[in-house]
Amino acid sequence: AAIYGTRKNSGGTNLHIQSEAKPFFDALAPFKNHQWQAGPIIGGKVQSGEPQQVVSPHNHSDVVGTVGFAGAAQAKEAITLAKAAFPAWRNSNVEVRAKALETFADVMEEHQAELIALVAREAGRILQDGIDEVREAVDFCRYYAQQARKMFNGAEVLPGPTGELNELYVQGKGVFVCISPWNFPLAIFVGQVAAALATGNTVIAKPAEQTCLVAFRAIELALKAGVPSDVLHFLPGDGAGVGAALTSDDRIAGVVFTGSTATAKAINKALADHDGAIKTLIAETGGQNAMIVDSTALPEQVVNDVIGSSFTSAGQRCSALRVLYVQADVADRILELLKGAMQELVVGDPWDYKTDIGAVIDNDAKAQLEAHLEALKDLAKPIATTPMGEATRNGSFVTPTAVEISSIDQLTKENFGPILHVVRFKADELDSVIDAINATGYGLTLGVHSRNEGLALEIADKANVGNCYINRNQIGAMVGTQPFGGQGLSGTGPKAGGPHYLFRFVTEKTRTNNI
Ligand code: SER
Repeated sequence: AAIYGTRKNSGGTNLHIQSEAKPFFDALAPFKNHQWQAGPIIGGKVQSGEPQQVVSPHNHSDVVGTVGFAGAAQAKEAITLAKAAFPAWRNSNVEVRAKALETFADVMEEHQAELIALVAREAGRILQDGIDEVREAVDFCRYYAQQARKMFNGAEVLPGPTGELNELYVQGKGVFVCISPWNFPLAIFVGQVAAALATGNTVIAKPAEQTCLVAFRAIELALKAGVPSDVLHFLPGDGAGVGAALTSDDRIAGVVFTGSTATAKAINKALADHDGAIKTLIAETGGQNAMIVDSTALPEQVVNDVIGSSFTSAGQRCSALRVLYVQADVADRILELLKGAMQELVVGDPWDYKTDIGAVIDNDAKAQLEAHLEALKDLAKPIATTPMGEATRNGSFVTPTAVEISSIDQLTKENFGPILHVVRFKADELDSVIDAINATGYGLTLGVHSRNEGLALEIADKANVGNCYINRNQIGAMVGTQPFGGQGLSGTGPKAGGPHYLFRFVTEKTRTNNI
């Protein structure tokens, strides 16, 4: 700490404290009706693109702004500039890069009202989600700045023959394409970019097509904070268009991607087809996340954590709980409490701090989730739904729903929304429950509720997951505290917000010197 400085995660704003809430809502007010304009940013200049109107998932008559989508020619132009800027950025002092990211974090905090309003309106999230997005984005910047200082703190001298100096050090790899998801439109977008920049790579950032406005503002703020305009370029657009133009270009060094498993595989294939060097892929993808609750667990705590894990952000987190395994002896009690708690949830108005659940990202997502609910009618027993109010009339809202099924293998895909599946199991079936969870091939998060510590640790060990949470909710990994990422179908690792993440962005060099 003495050398690298201390770092604290951001504190955010507590909307339940009047003295914090009042200035927060005052600052938010001008952005409730603001119209944003965005487009590609190449070499620091905003260019025009194929115009797309952005409407809010909360209310389809709320027009949030317009974004110009980039095309293949702009992808080529951005890669040319990023490649030319790479040698100087790679050789820059780590302090220059770390300071730029720390200033970027400060500038995001100064503009947090605008960013939170954008997350709410463009991504259909509630205010708490927006607050958490800004917190995580600034935490990523400060954390990777600190980690980079450690990584680039001179070469490591290795033992060797007398008179020969053997040293190991790292360098950035080249142009990184950062492709981020709409479900963390600020935090993951910024986290990917910050990691690539901290390690001396130049960056082309392509956000999810649904959330380009908030990503555009983040890039403007990064440039304002001092990130050089030739090292960071922004290309909004869709995956099939500008995304494919970027990932198929042989001049890139690698891709950092968060999104679906199918898209990660398609990117991997595109990278494998390059003529030149073998490319790096860092992918964080989907999950079929379970929680196992045994008969020693505290029912009220279980229900609180199930609600948080399944329905926060309308279930649109890759970490979210999809399948709750409850030991049969305690299942009726827990399901009764769950039913009551789901009645109390508030869905709808993003500007009311008492709202628990916002919209899903768009009508396509809504249609897919509703098709799944329809299919469940044949194979599941209803448990509970949450009442939907007036405020959900004109948006892409899906009714939070809990149903009982017989096994996780009845689910053939990840259902990315507020739908919880519950399975009862008997005490002697625990091993087969773990086998069934592992057999999905996904391995992102697992929740365990038990007061039998030995058993909880054994479950944590046997389950092939990246993040296991015992006696708490299973979402909201904190930067530097719960490094986040999965295995198998859930991603390549290393974990975002963890001490090994930056190593995938660099190449190692051994220098043996006999001069
Ligand atoms: N990091 C997020 C969480 O833990 C998921 O992407 O909820």
